[in-house]
Amino acid sequence: MSEFTLRLRRYDPESGGAPYWEEHTIDLEPHRSVLEGILQCKARFDGSIGIRCSCRAAICGSCGVRINGDPDLACHTHLDRAKKHSKDGVIEVEPMGNMPVIKDLIVDMETVHWKKIRRVTPWLIAKQPVPEREYIVPREAMVDVTQSMACIQCGACVSDCLSMEVDPEFIGPAALAKAYRFVGDPRDDQHFERLKDLAEDTHGIYDCTHCFACIDACPKGVAPMSQIMRLRRLAGNDFKIEDRNNGERHEAAFVSLVKQYGLLNEAELLPRSYGGDSPLAKFKPSVAAEMASTLPAIARALLRRKVTPAAVLKPHKLAKEDRDQVKRIYDEVEGREQRDEFNIYITGRDEDR
Ligand code: FES
Repeated sequence: MSEFTLRLRRYDPESGGAPYWEEHTIDLEPHRSVLEGILQCKARFDGSIGIRCSCRAAICGSCGVRINGDPDLACHTHLDRAKKHSKDGVIEVEPMGNMPVIKDLIVDMETVHWKKIRRVTPWLIAKQPVPEREYIVPREAMVDVTQSMACIQCGACVSDCLSMEVDPEFIGPAALAKAYRFVGDPRDDQHFERLKDLAEDTHGIYDCTHCFACIDACPKGVAPMSQIMRLRRLAGNDFKIEDRNNGERHEAAFVSLVKQYGLLNEAELLPRSYGGDSPLAKFKPSVAAEMASTLPAIARALLRRKVTPAAVLKPHKLAKEDRDQVKRIYDEVEGREQRDEFNIYITGRDEDR
């Protein structure tokens, strides 16, 4: 047995009081979980500590919390590991972010997470006619959706999503990973409609800022951001969906800038996103309103010197040999006859190393 001190974030909205921290010291074997530690605090010191849990085996997704600032499953985190990663030897546990707190460590999954999951029509819309027996689908296609099927709906990715912090209406990583589960499923009949819907939604697939936080947060390796990027590739490259938010063109502008300069030229990003490679020639009146709405952002960027007039006139570039290296990557990828998608799920047997 070893001693561990847990610092728990306590909050009861009904009390009218502010949140506060409370410390308890418990005795448990180091390989026991943080959840067991919290349950011991509850049993020994204060029965009113609020924590949601069920399976205690990283299956049900109920016990999502933030441990030392990072989202994780309390039942999936060993006490000794959590202590090692703490600031001062005390394991800090608080509720997940981006969702309202119901009590202590319990957040309201319904108003944020489940509402967004329902938004993406989370069921299969079967191709017709339905075969008399089972649908026969390529094995690879099902392996591809296995990654998004591994989601246990714990909300860890939602908790750390930076886009959702800025735009609470963003559909979010968990729901979009769920959407890929059906868009990637050959038995589903609504691939185009689903993608069009998610591309046209101002809070949809193009609202993700590509920050990787959800990939780090997910305890099951779902990599929600990768699923969002797959949705984008399918929408923009395969189904040629030009969304009214200009997301597809914005992404294309990123790609063309990196190809040209070897790195992102932010000063040119906006005009190229809205006007194509030659702003005046390719400016689309349909996106004029969208462009006008970004003027305050441009003004702020100038004021904070994120963009300077000098940088606009004289963009920074990589050295020629480095640009050539980047271009070689583009040539290699774009020269392929078909796009390769990699999935981290590897099939085989343990002995097949
Ligand atoms: Fe089920 Fe932790 S209690 S995932």
